[in-house]
Amino acid sequence: MRILVAGGAGYIGSYLIPVLIERGYEVEVIDLMWFGNHLPSSVKVAQKDLFECKEEDLEIYDQIIFLAGLSNDPMAEYGPAMNFVFNAALPSYLAFTAKKASVKRFIYASSCSVYGYTVNELYDEDSPVTCGYPYGVSKLQGERGVLQLSDENFSVIALRKGTVSGFSPRMRLDLIVNTMFKFAVSDKHITVDNPSIWRPVLDIRDATNAYLRAIQADYSISGVFNIASDNYTVGQVGDMVKREVEKLTKQKIAITIKNIEDFRNYKVTIDKAKTNLGFQPQYTISDIVQSLYDHKACFENYDDDTFYNIRVFKKLNHNSYL
Ligand SMILES: NC(=O)c1ccc[n+]([C@@H]2O[C@H](COP(=O)([O-])OP(=O)(O)OC[C@H]3O[C@@H](n4cnc5c(N)ncnc54)[C@H](O)[C@@H]3O)[C@@H](O)[C@H]2O)c1
Repeated sequence: MRILVAGGAGYIGSYLIPVLIERGYEVEVIDLMWFGNHLPSSVKVAQKDLFECKEEDLEIYDQIIFLAGLSNDPMAEYGPAMNFVFNAALPSYLAFTAKKASVKRFIYASSCSVYGYTVNELYDEDSPVTCGYPYGVSKLQGERGVLQLSDENFSVIALRKGTVSGFSPRMRLDLIVNTMFKFAVSDKHITVDNPSIWRPVLDIRDATNAYLRAIQADYSISGVFNIASDNYTVGQVGDMVKREVEKLTKQKIAITIKNIEDFRNYKVTIDKAKTNLGFQPQYTISDIVQSLYDHKACFENYDDDTFYNIRVFKKLNHNSYL
């Protein structure tokens, strides 16, 4: 099976693609390379904007995985116009073109951030989506734009992922567990911005399994699926990272608790993905910390700008689309 991973040179793609290749999939990538290329040299990569893709470029693929766009709140706030163009219009354009090209399935990297500030209930895919901030709104628009194209010949699966964490060859240190790990090992100190806020956390290895399940699902399946390893409060994440890093380094880690207001607070049920896709998460926060610790030599230069999306994005000066 031939798969195009759109935006595949980023954090998730750089971990996912070697696994896809190992499983026998033929993978190609189109990416603007904002963060360089950390993929195996055998992967065919075209450096270009996905808006340049025409129907004839996509005819060769069985499935497309969409991982492109602006991938966090600071980027979305820094470049609001570009955020809506790349996160809402681009997936719609690519899915529309893919459908015309007879691609069989489009898998969209959605986000649980579409849920916004919830009332501490477990949210499923039918719960209200109340976000009002640029990143969440644009991910929701992207999701709706691609899903409305699904029919019996074109399957569309949107994976609403929790915050992904863990090691990837294209490393990010601006994701909850990765950030706390960095501060724990470098400063022996973790800051918890708001301990009572809920977040679904997703080990990058569980995220990869979710993409595999989506690729392998029967073509009659389309829809939205929450994907997480588990739900935690930010306070719980802080305590777990502290405990695990103390165990691994035999050094004391301090915690500072703040009460900074957050506009995101949600926990989700993944029952639909378990039932319909056969997704079963396997990893915990301690597994994430262990894997970060095992790979820390690869990102020990903690201040390297490439580990922080907003720093790279500001340098690219993409605060306007025109
Ligand atoms: N990382 C997370 O915690 C998380 C959680 C939920 C959803 N998501 C979504 O998953 C996707 C991947 O996340 P990530 O952490 O790997 O992001 P990332 O920022 O590491 O990678 C995004 C990649 O897309 C490329 N790109 C962006 N716009 C493009 C365009 N127009 N044409 C070609 N390439 C383009 C960039 O060069 C980059 O390599 C994103 O859509 C993000 O919104 C991520």
